[in-house]
Amino acid sequence: MSSDKLEVYTKGTKAWFKDAQEGYIVATMVEKTIQDKKLIMKFTIDSTNKEEKFEQLISKLEANNYDDLPPLKNPPRLEGADDLTNLSYLHEAAVLHSVRIRYLQEIIYTYSGLVLIAMNPFRRMNIYTAEIMRQYAGRPRHELEPHLFAIAEEAYRKMINEKVNQSIIVSGESGAGKTQSAKYVMRYFATVDELSASRAGSATDIANSSTSIEDAVLSTNPIMEAFGNSKTTRNDNSSRFGKYIEILFEKKPQDPTSVTIVGARIRTYLLERSRLTFQPDSERNYHIFYQLCAAAPAAERAELGIGSWDTFFYLNQGKTGTVNGVDDAEEFAITQKGMSVVGISVSTQWDIFKICAALLHIGNIKITDSRGAAQIDENDHALGMASKLLGVDPAEFRKWLIKKQITTRSEKIISDANTYQAITSRDSIAKYIYSLLFDWIVKIVNTKLDSSQTSKDGRFIGVLDIYGFEHFQKNSFEQFCINYANEKLQQEFTRHVFKLEQEEYVAEQISWSFIDFSDNQPCIDMIENKLGILDLLDEESRLPSGADDSLITKLYQRFGTAEHKFFEKPRFGQKEFVIKHYALDVNYQIEGFIEKNKDTVSEEQLKMLNESSFEFLKEVIYIEPEPEKASPQPPRGRAGGNKKPTLGSIFKNSLIKLMDTLRQTNPHYIRCIKPNQAKVAFEFEAHNVLGQLVACGVLETIKISRAGYPSKQTFSEFASRYYFLVPSSQWKTDPKLLTENIVKTVIKGENKYELGLRKVFFRAGQLAYLEKVRSEKFTAIVTFIQKCSIRTLRQKQYKKMKKSATLIQTAYRGFAARKLYKSMQQEAAAIKIQTCIRGALARKKYKAIRSSTRKIQQAWRRYVHKREFFKNRGEKSALRIQKVWRGYKARKWYKKEIRKIVLVQSLYRRKIAIREFKALKIEARSVGKLKETNYKLESKVFELSQSLDAKKKENVEMSKHLASLEEQLASLREKYQKMETDSKAKGSGAQEETAELRKQLAAAVESRDTLVKETEKLHGMIRKRDDSINHLQTEVANSQAEIKRMKEDLKNAPKQEDTATVNALKKEVASLREQMGRLVAGKYRTDRITEKFLNNDYAAANPLPTPAPVHTSAAARMSMSFFESAAQVTARVAESLGRSTEALAPEPKRKVQEIVIEDDTEQKERPIRMLEARELEDEVIDSLITNLRIPLPSTQTVATRKEIFFPAHLIGYLLSELLEHKMIDRMRDLLNHIMRAIQQLTMKFEDDYVSAFWLSNNYELMSVIKTARLRLPRPSLPNQDDEQSASAVLQTVHVDLKKVMLEIYHGWIKEFKKRLANMIVPAVIENQSLPGYICKQSGGIWSQWAAKSAATSQFSIDQLLNFLSKLSKTMRCYYMEESMSRQILTELLRVIGVSAFNHLLMRKNFCTWKRGVQIQYNVSRLEEWCTGHGIAEATLHLQQLMQAAKLLTLNKTSASDIEMIFDVCFLLNPTQIKKLLSLYYAADFDSPLSTELLKIVSNRAAVNEKLDSLLLDLDSSPEFIYPEPRNVKHIEKFIPAWIDLPYIQAVLSASYGSGSAVEASPPQ
Ligand SMILES: Nc1ncnc2c1ncn2[C@@H]1O[C@H](COP(=O)(O)OP(=O)(O)OP(=O)(O)O)[C@@H](O)[C@H]1O
Ligand SMILES: [Mg+2]
Repeated sequence: MSSDKLEVYTKGTKAWFKDAQEGYIVATMVEKTIQDKKLIMKFTIDSTNKEEKFEQLISKLEANNYDDLPPLKNPPRLEGADDLTNLSYLHEAAVLHSVRIRYLQEIIYTYSGLVLIAMNPFRRMNIYTAEIMRQYAGRPRHELEPHLFAIAEEAYRKMINEKVNQSIIVSGESGAGKTQSAKYVMRYFATVDELSASRAGSATDIANSSTSIEDAVLSTNPIMEAFGNSKTTRNDNSSRFGKYIEILFEKKPQDPTSVTIVGARIRTYLLERSRLTFQPDSERNYHIFYQLCAAAPAAERAELGIGSWDTFFYLNQGKTGTVNGVDDAEEFAITQKGMSVVGISVSTQWDIFKICAALLHIGNIKITDSRGAAQIDENDHALGMASKLLGVDPAEFRKWLIKKQITTRSEKIISDANTYQAITSRDSIAKYIYSLLFDWIVKIVNTKLDSSQTSKDGRFIGVLDIYGFEHFQKNSFEQFCINYANEKLQQEFTRHVFKLEQEEYVAEQISWSFIDFSDNQPCIDMIENKLGILDLLDEESRLPSGADDSLITKLYQRFGTAEHKFFEKPRFGQKEFVIKHYALDVNYQIEGFIEKNKDTVSEEQLKMLNESSFEFLKEVIYIEPEPEKASPQPPRGRAGGNKKPTLGSIFKNSLIKLMDTLRQTNPHYIRCIKPNQAKVAFEFEAHNVLGQLVACGVLETIKISRAGYPSKQTFSEFASRYYFLVPSSQWKTDPKLLTENIVKTVIKGENKYELGLRKVFFRAGQLAYLEKVRSEKFTAIVTFIQKCSIRTLRQKQYKKMKKSATLIQTAYRGFAARKLYKSMQQEAAAIKIQTCIRGALARKKYKAIRSSTRKIQQAWRRYVHKREFFKNRGEKSALRIQKVWRGYKARKWYKKEIRKIVLVQSLYRRKIAIREFKALKIEARSVGKLKETNYKLESKVFELSQSLDAKKKENVEMSKHLASLEEQLASLREKYQKMETDSKAKGSGAQEETAELRKQLAAAVESRDTLVKETEKLHGMIRKRDDSINHLQTEVANSQAEIKRMKEDLKNAPKQEDTATVNALKKEVASLREQMGRLVAGKYRTDRITEKFLNNDYAAANPLPTPAPVHTSAAARMSMSFFESAAQVTARVAESLGRSTEALAPEPKRKVQEIVIEDDTEQKERPIRMLEARELEDEVIDSLITNLRIPLPSTQTVATRKEIFFPAHLIGYLLSELLEHKMIDRMRDLLNHIMRAIQQLTMKFEDDYVSAFWLSNNYELMSVIKTARLRLPRPSLPNQDDEQSASAVLQTVHVDLKKVMLEIYHGWIKEFKKRLANMIVPAVIENQSLPGYICKQSGGIWSQWAAKSAATSQFSIDQLLNFLSKLSKTMRCYYMEESMSRQILTELLRVIGVSAFNHLLMRKNFCTWKRGVQIQYNVSRLEEWCTGHGIAEATLHLQQLMQAAKLLTLNKTSASDIEMIFDVCFLLNPTQIKKLLSLYYAADFDSPLSTELLKIVSNRAAVNEKLDSLLLDLDSSPEFIYPEPRNVKHIEKFIPAWIDLPYIQAVLSASYGSGSAVEASPPQ
C-alpha cells in the first residue's frame, strides 16, 4: 500500500526541502532511480537551480511507512486556502507556505480548522471598522473571509442559540497581538447587538448607542494596561499578566431573543512583579509610573514628590522613558477617564497614584554598606517621602529595612541585615504593595462591573488573553509557570480538537479507528500532582532552611529516572533541569525559584503597613480570602502565619479553576503569531513562525487530523470537481453514487477513503493525488482538444498553401508560355524578313540580268531592223515619187473639166432670173390690193377691244360675288366662335355641380361609418360594463354565500371553540372586507372612466353647464346607486356576521339637507358656524386621514391624476375657507391636528402605498398652502394683524410640513433598507442568471444534470427589479412629485450598490471571473432599469460594484494587466483593488494570482493605506432636497361617492351659495 506513496513522486513533482533561511524551499524532481535497494531521487531547487539529492534505503523507508520522503507541494489551487485543513498534503512545509503567501498578500487571518491564526500586521489595518463589523454580524463563519469578528460572531450566536457559555482563548508569544485581538473581540461584543438590530441603520446610531455599561467594560482595557503593561524589547505594550475577562450578557427584557451586555468579570494571572524593581536594558516599568511622571498636575506633583522619570531608580534602569508614538500624558488622561467610567472616584484615583508615588520613592531609598551591615541615612529624603505617603513611621520603616528578625521556637532574634538582604527586603516590600494594589484594582473593577451575579439566565463569553509558551536563554520561575499554564491549555485544546474530529466521524457514521495523539498529561502530572515539581517547590519554600540547591537535588532524585520521559537532568551543571514540553525542551535555571515562589515580606513589615494611617493603603493590603487564591490556606495579609500560600500554589489553583471554567464553556481559539522579531510590517521570518506554529499547537492539531482523515468534502462538492475522472457512462445524478464511482475507480487500495453520510473522507495526500490525476486527465483532455484543433488548423493551412502553389504554378507557366510564344513569334518574323530580303535581292539580280539581256536583244534587234529599214526606205522613196507624180497629173485634168461645167450652168441661170424679174415689175404697179388688207386689220382690232370690255365686266361681277361670299364666311365664323364659347361655359358649370354632389355623398358615408363604429364601441362598452357588473355581482354573491356558510359554521361551532379558529375567521372576514373595499374602489374607477367617456362623447355635443360636482350626470347616479347597493350588501354581510356595520357601510346617510336646512337669514353666518364645528375637524381627521380607504395602486394601469382622490385638496380647500373667514386660530389648530394624524398614520410603514400616498399628499398640501400664501392679499391697514398672523401661520405650517415630509422620507428609506438588506446579496451578488457562467457553489454540474440542483439564490435580480418597479409604479400611481420619487429610487440604488460592493469585498472563496460576469450582468440589468425609468444618474452609485465585477473578469497575468486594472477601475481605491485581487479565487481552469503581482499591487496600495477606506459608507446618504411646491391652479373639490363626508360636503355647498374666493373646478 505504501509504495504508492512513492509512486506519486514522478518527474516534475514538486517537493519541499529544508532551508536555513526560508524554512522550506521548493524543488522539482528530475530523476528517480532505485539502485541496490536504495532509492535515489534528484531534484533541482526552483529558485537557485541547485541540485538536491535524496537517498534512502528502501527497507528503511518501508519501516517508516514512507514518511521520510520529502514533503510534497500542494497543487497551487489549494495553496493559500483560507483554511489550512483544506490542504491535501498537510505538513509543516505546506502550512508554513500557506501562511506565508497569505501574509505576503496582507491577509492576516487564516483558519486552521476551528483555530483562527492571526498574524500580527504591525500596521494599522482598516479591517476593524463598523462597516466590517456589520458585514460579519449575523453571518456564518464559512461565508466570509477569516476574521476575528467571524470567531467573535460565532461565539456570540452560539451563546444566544445554544445557551452555552463561550470562551475565546487568545494565545501567542509576546508581541504577537493577543491583547490587540482581545480588544477587537470585546469591541465587537459591545457593538454587535446594535449592528444586527440595525443592519441598515445608521452608523451614527451605532456610535452613539454603546451604552455606559459597554463603555465601562471596554474601559477596563486602558486601566489594566496602565498597571499591568510595559514596554519590553519584544513589544511596546507588553501585558505582564494573564487576563481572563468574562463579558456578561443577559436577555433583553423587551426582546428575549437578543442579549445585551450587563457587566464583566476579570481574573488576572501572575503579574510580573520583578519588573517593578528591575527592568532590563531598553525596557520600561509599568506604564502608569511614566504616565504619572509625565502628566501629574503641579499641585499633586509637589504633594507626591514626583519628578522626571529618570530621577527614580525603579524607572531608569532600562534607560528608556518613552515609547515611540505614545504620549504618556495623553495615556494618563485615558487611564483616568477609564477609571472614572468604571466608577472609581477621582479621590480614590489619587489615592492609587499616591501609592504608586510612594513605591517610586521606596526605590530611591539609598542603602549603604557599613562594615557588612546595611545602612540607611535617617534623613534620607526618599525614605521620608515614602513613609509620609504610605502613612507609616519612618523610623519603623527604616528599622525593618535594615534589620531582620528570626523567630526560633523559643525566641525572636533581631539581627543586622547585609546590603543585599536590605535591598531585597526594600524591593520585596515595593513588589508586595504593587501586586496588592493591582489585585485591588481588579477587585474594584469587578465589583463595579459585575452587578448581575444574582441573575440566573445570564450567559457570558470569556476572553482569555494569556502569555504563550516562552523560552529564553535563561528560564526561571515565571517561564516555568507560563509554560505550565500553556501545557494545560494545550491539553485542553488538543482534547477539544480531537473530540470534534471524532465527533464528525461519528456523525458521518464512517468506520474509524482510535487516533493516537501525543497526550501531555504525564508532563502536567509531573508538575502539578502530589509530589510533583510544584509540590516539592512549596515544601522547600516552607522550610526555613529551604534553598534552590536542595530543591534541585530533590528534583533530580524524584524525576531523574528513566521512567519520567518529560524530565531531563543536563549532563553538565547542577543548577538546571530540562522539561520536555509539548512544544520544545526548555532548560530552567533553579536560581531564584524558592525566593520567587515565597514572595513574602517579613511579618514586621506587614505589621507596620497594617498600622498605617493611610486608610486606603490598609484597604488595599487587606485582601478578602478569595476561594481560588486562599483554598485550604488561611488568608494573606494581616493574618500571616506560617502556611502562607506560595505563588506557585496560588497560580496552580487559579489555573485549575480557569480550566474548570473553560471546560464548561464552548471554546474558540485565536492563535496570534508574530511574523518577525523586528516588528516590521509584512516581513516574514519563516523559522520564527514555524516555532510559533509548533508552540501554539497548530501543527499538533494538524498531526491529529492527519492521523485521521484530514481531507473531507461533501459529495456534491467532490463530484462536481472530479466527475470527469470516470467515463460519462458512470455519471450519476446522485452525488454519493458518483463520488463512490470516482473514488473506486481512481483510488486503489484499502483504507484510503471513507464515505460518510454527507461527506467523503480522505487520508492525507489522497486529495492531492486526486488533484494530480485530475490535472493529468485535464492535461490529456486539453492536449486532445489541442491536437484536434491544431490538426484542423494545419489542414486548413495546407489546403490554402496548395491552392496558392497551384496559383503560382499557373501564373509561372503562363509566363513561360508567353515567353516561348514571343520567341517563336520573333523567329517567324526573322524568317519572314530574311525571305523578303532574299527575294528582293534575287529580284534585283534577275532584273539586272533581264535588263542586260534585253539590252543585248535590243541592240541586236536594232541592228537587224536598221538593216531592214535602210533596205525598205529605198523602196518607199521610189513609190512616193511615183505617187506624187501620178497625183499631179490627175488634179490638172480635173480642174480643167470643172471650169468648163460652171460656165455652162451660169449661162443657163442668167436666162431664168431675167424672165422672173419682168413678171414682178408688172404686179407692183396695182394699189387696191393694199387698201383691202388695211380694212381687214381694223375690224380685227375692234373685235378684240369688245371682247376685252366684256371680260372686265365679268371680272367686277365676280369680285363682288367673292366679297359677299367672304362676308358670309366671316359672319359664319363669328357665329361659330360664339357658339363654341357658349357651349364651353355651359359644360364647366355642370361638372362643378357633380363634384359637389359626390363630396356630400362621401361625407355622408363617412359619418355613417363613424356613427356605426361609435355605436359599436358604445355597445362594446356597455357590454363590458354589464360584464363587470355581472362579475361584481357574482363576486358579491360568492362572498355572501361564503359569509353565510361561515356564519352557519359559526353557529354550528360549539360556543367554547378555541380562540384560534375565531381569530382565523376574524382574519378571513377582514380580508373579505378588504377585498370588497378594493372591488368597490376598483368599481369606482371603472365608473369614472365610463362617466368620462359619456361626458366626452355625448355631453360634448350638448354641453351642459355643470354647476356643482355633486352627482348630476346619469352615470354618477348610476354609480351612486351601485355603491349604495354595494354598501347595502356589505351591510347585510356584516349584519349576518352579527357585527356592527360601522367599519364597512357608510354611516347611515345623513341627508345633507339636515345640516343645510337653515333659515335664509342665517345664510351668511352659516359657513362660519360650519367651519367651527367640532365634527368637521373630526371628520377631516377621521375620514380623510386616519380611516381613509386609500385607492390601491393598480398593477395594470395608472389612473389619471384626476382619478386619484387627494385628501390634501379638500384639506387645502378647508384651509382656504378658514383663511377667507379669517379664522386663523382655528386654522392653526386644525393644521396641527391634521399633521399629527398624518404622522401617526405614516410612521408605521406597514404598506408602501400608504407612505407613497401620503408623501404625495403632503406635497400637494404644501403646494396648496404655498398657493394660498401667494394669494393672500398684501396687508392692508385695517386688518393688518390678521393678514400677518395668517401669513405667519402658513409659514410655520409650511416648515412643519417639510419636517413631516422629511420624516416620512427617512423613515420610509430606513424601512426599505431593512427590507432590501436580505435581498441585495442574493439578488445582485449570488444570483446567476447567465447559464453559461454558472459557478460551482450553487449547483454547478448538478444543475445541469439533475432537477434537484443545489439551492439557487433566494432572491433573483428579477425579484429585486420587480420590487423597484412596483415601488416606482406605486409612486407614479399617486403622482408623487418627480424629484422626490427620483431621490427615493436613487437612494435605494445607492444602498444596493454599496451593500453589494461591501459584501463582495468580504466574501471568501467567491470572487471568480464567472462571478464577475454574473455580477456585471446583474448590475447591467439594474442600470438598464434605471435608464428605463429615467433615473440614469442613479447608475453612478453602481459603478464601484460594476468595476469590482469587471476587475474579476480582467486578465491578471502580467504587470501590464495590473496597470490596466488600475486604469479600468478608476473609482476603486488601491486598497479595495488589492483586497479584491487577494480575494480573487482561481476557478477550475484559471491559475491563482502570482505573488509577484500581488506584491506590485500592495506596493501601490501602501501609498494611501491610511486614508483609503476598504468599505463604502452605507450611511453617507445625500441630503434630501425638498421639492419646489407647484402652483395649484385648481383645488379639487370633488368628493368621491365612496366616501361619506357630510360636513365637508355641507361646507362645500355652502361656499357655493356664498361664493368662494378660491376657484374650484369640477372633475371632468
Ligand atoms: N490586528 C492588529 N492590527 C494592527 N496592529 C496590531 C494588531 N495586532 C497587534 N498589533 C501590533 O502589535 C503590537 C503588539 O500587540 P499586543 O500588545 O496585542 O501583543 P501581545 O500578544 O498582547 O503581547 P504581550 O504578550 O507582550 O502582551 C501592538 O501594539 C500593535 O502595534
Ligand atoms: Mg498583551
